[in-house]
Order: sequence, then structure tokens, then C-alpha cells
Amino acid sequence: MPSSLVHVVGARPNFMKAAPVIRALRSLGVEQRLLHTGQHYDTALSDVFFTDLDLPQPDISLGVGSGSHAAQTAAIMVALEAVLIGEPAPLVVVYGDVNSTIAAAIVCAKLGIPTAHVEAGLRSFDRSMPEEINRLVTDALAELLFVTSPEGMENLAREGVGDDRMHFVGNPMIDTLLVHLDRFDPLPVRERLGLPERYAVATLHRPTNVDTPEAAGRLVAALGRAGTRLQIVFPVHPRGRQMLESVGLGDLASVQVVEPLGYIDFISLVRGSAAVITDSGGIQEETTILGVPCLTLRANTERPITITHGTNRLVSPETLTGALDDALGGAQSSPAVGPPLWDGHAGERIAAVIAEWLGRRGSERRRSRRASPSAGR
Ligand code: UD1
Repeated sequence: MPSSLVHVVGARPNFMKAAPVIRALRSLGVEQRLLHTGQHYDTALSDVFFTDLDLPQPDISLGVGSGSHAAQTAAIMVALEAVLIGEPAPLVVVYGDVNSTIAAAIVCAKLGIPTAHVEAGLRSFDRSMPEEINRLVTDALAELLFVTSPEGMENLAREGVGDDRMHFVGNPMIDTLLVHLDRFDPLPVRERLGLPERYAVATLHRPTNVDTPEAAGRLVAALGRAGTRLQIVFPVHPRGRQMLESVGLGDLASVQVVEPLGYIDFISLVRGSAAVITDSGGIQEETTILGVPCLTLRANTERPITITHGTNRLVSPETLTGALDDALGGAQSSPAVGPPLWDGHAGERIAAVIAEWLGRRGSERRRSRRASPSAGR
């Protein structure tokens, strides 16, 4: 007999997406377990988010840690398979596009456990990104697809997904942002870091920007030029730190390198900033709601709605300073209407669909047991 549903989280961007779904399911009385794969294990990338977001401690921790993509994904698959064979689940909920997401989707598909994918349908159409592979595979396998933007629905429809599998629910990451809005005060964190009133925030860790000396060198040169305009604070993700330092990040007087920040500190810093320079996915969305200009150092984005309905603009290392000048001069305006359904209630919509689905599944099972009494033995 399957027991409670399982949420699989593992990496920093998962935590703020899962929090509102867990909260909304709790208020509907749905039984749930939280499983942390351990993809991210540092206090700064994981533990601080549990405290900041008031997330329950994981019921199950796989503790897989770092490795190559294959090693990390495989380690999660082996450990998760054992957990789900030991105690099956009626549904596994996966989030975003990280290795923990694809690993769980594959394991569940082979065990015959349905999955729900929160943040389905995003496409950068760039298969050199590991996240794009993770999105494509997870969406192909998931039974319930929860979509944050109209383009996501179009992408899935183009891939042949039927209307019954996809649900346009809005953005749970924005639920978390809006719930904590009153806590985002830039002043204490700005003072603690010794920043001037006008500053920009940089966060850059994508393989295309930081994994080769050439790319990292172009990036550091671009930050050096941008730093002639205003002070930049850069909370550095561990994956790029060594490479960026080897090409001179630490020598830039106007770029202040700091450790990764917790959720409340980081969003507070963003809220008070004049602009953000990033290659993150989630920050494109958060700046759209906060009304802070976002310069995304990537050739593409899986979140085009943050450009059409938000503050985002794609830039290259060569165009960064010009774009920053536009942003600082007020030339990068934010549209009057934000993305539809980014209203703080996505978690509730997701929970309502899941609760209804579980109820329907439960009655189907009971009916089939009554029809063939030996089936349940
Ligand atoms: C992952 C996600 C990425 C997301 C990012 C947010 C995938 C494919 N990518 O990338 O989409 O934007 O998380 O942070 O899942 N490390 C530590 N401590 C940790 C975790 C990682 O030092 O707690 C270091 C390790 O050296 C590791 C490297 O960071 O090799 C990369 O970590 P990994 O989890 O593989 O991917 P991220 O780059 O963090």
C-alpha cells in the first residue's frame, strides 16, 4: 500500500520552489515526506535555506554530494531507488532542472511511480546546457506538469503533451518571494558588507561562463569594465571560484567577492541594488517582480517572459557595460503588467491539483480492487 507522497529536493534553487507547495499541501491535510538528495551540502547552499524558508527538516537524506554529472545523477538514482522500493509513494514531486530532478524522474518512471514536475515546460532550446537536458527528460516522463508561464504551455503542446497532463499554475518561486517580502531590507546586509548606497549584484556560475579560462577571462574583463560604473558585490558559488580567481577576479578593486548568501540576505541585497548581473535562472524571475534591472550574461533564456513582461535583458561580456549604462540611466523600463499568475498563489494551485489527483487515484485503486479482489493481495 503506497504511503505518503515524496518531494525530492537537492540543490539551492529547489528549496524556494518546494516551500509553498509543501505548505499548501499541509494545509489540505495531505501526508508528505521531504527527501534531500544532498546534491548541495554546504551550509551556505543548503542549510541556511531551510532556516530562512522555514522548511521542515528532510525526512530522508541521501547525502550524495558532488561528482561529475553522470556520477552525481547515478548516485542519486541508486540511493533513491532503494528508498522508494523500501517505502513506495503514490506520487513523487520534483522541482526545476537540476540533476536531482532528472535522477528522480528516471527512477520513478522505472518503478512505475508517477511524478509531478514543478516548473515544467521551460526551454532554452540550447542542448549544450545540462539543465535543458534535465528539463526535456523530466517533462517527457512526468505525469503532472506544473507550468509557470504561457510559453511553457506552448512548448509542451509542441512536444505533444496533452492538455490533461499540463497545468498553468503560476510561479511558486514568486510565492516564496512575496511571502517574505517584508523581510527584505537591504540596509543591514549592505552595512555588514560595507557597500555604498548604489551598487550592483553579480552572480555567475554557469559552465559556459566559468568553466574554461577563456570564458572566465572574458567575464572577469567585463566585470572590470562594469566596475568603472559602480561597485559590484559578487557572492561566489563554489563551482566557479577557483577558475575566476585564477583569471584575476580578486584583483578587481571595484568587485567585492563574498561567500554565497542565504535567501533573505541575498534577496535583500538584490532589492536594494541598482542592477543585477547574472546567469542564474531564478534571479531573472525574482528581479522581474522586484523591478530591479537584470542583465543576463547568456546567449539565451528559458524564461523569455522575464524579458517581455519583466526587467530582464540578455547581454554578452562585450555588451554588458552599455546595457548597464542603460539600466543605470533608467532606459531599461519595466512593463506595466507582470507575468500572468505570478501572484503568490501558485503553491495553492499546485496543491489543489495534486490533492484532486491523489483522491482520484485512490478511488480508482479501490474500484479496481473491488472488481478483482485478488489484485490487492
Ligand atoms: C546546480 C544546478 C544549476 C543551479 C545551481 C544553483 C545542475 C545540473 N545544475 O549547479 O542549475 O543553477 O545548482 O546553485 O543540477 N559544490 C560545493 N558545495 C555544495 C555544492 C556544490 O562546493 O554544497 C561545488 C562542488 O565542487 C561541485 C560544484 O560546486 O562540483 C558544482 O555543484 P553541482 O551541484 O554539480 O552543480 P551546480 O553548479 O551547483
